[in-house]
Amino acid sequence: MEVDYEKLIGLMCQRQSIRKFKDVPLTEEEVRKIVGAAVTAPSSLNSQPWSFVVITDRAEKKRLMQIYGQARKKLGLYEQDVSFVKKATPIVVVCEDDDYGKVLSCAMAIQNMFLAAESIGLCSLPSVTILMDPESTKELEGLVGVRAPKKIVLVTYFGYKDEAPNRKPKKELSGLVFENTLGEREG
Ligand SMILES: Cc1cc2nc3c(=O)[nH]c(=O)nc-3n(C[C@H](O)[C@H](O)[C@H](O)COP(=O)(O)O)c2cc1C
Repeated sequence: MEVDYEKLIGLMCQRQSIRKFKDVPLTEEEVRKIVGAAVTAPSSLNSQPWSFVVITDRAEKKRLMQIYGQARKKLGLYEQDVSFVKKATPIVVVCEDDDYGKVLSCAMAIQNMFLAAESIGLCSLPSVTILMDPESTKELEGLVGVRAPKKIVLVTYFGYKDEAPNRKPKKELSGLVFENTLGEREG
């Protein structure tokens, strides 16, 4: 089946990171469509190393919001209204271990999730902040019941948009694409 390139690019360009969500959880059907897209991704040695923790419990979302807020403070990141964390539906993407190829495979699954969400009128946010702080990472692992060798790759959020932010500028192709060499060969 051929899919129209312009439509596909259109969907990709339409996606943007959203940090204000309506207080409406995803339906089971919406979650199924998003995770269903994730598991079609390519994976290193067809390892399909992913699993997904969908957070539906309000108390657990609230705790996640606290951990996220605390991590942002510790990392000295710009101030952010973190209430989106408890309004959206968080899906924590977990890899079976920290093998590079497997972690990359999870990243591919994640982009599929964002595009699938966009295609059914939902919006999304990827979030690595918690994972940049070892203490907050431990708390998150405890919260969602993840133990080594399993590794949390990313926290993703899905829901209904409650803001219309300006689109982030993207770099022009020229200057990013090189023929045969990046020009940093030695000698
Ligand atoms: C791996 C990854 C981690 C991110 N982590 C965060 C985060 O913790 N908090 C946040 O507000 N945005 C986060 N973002 C969103 C980026 O800020 C956003 O993708 C970027 O500014 C480009 O905007 P766009 O997604 O609207 O195109 C993350 C994005 C990626 C790809």
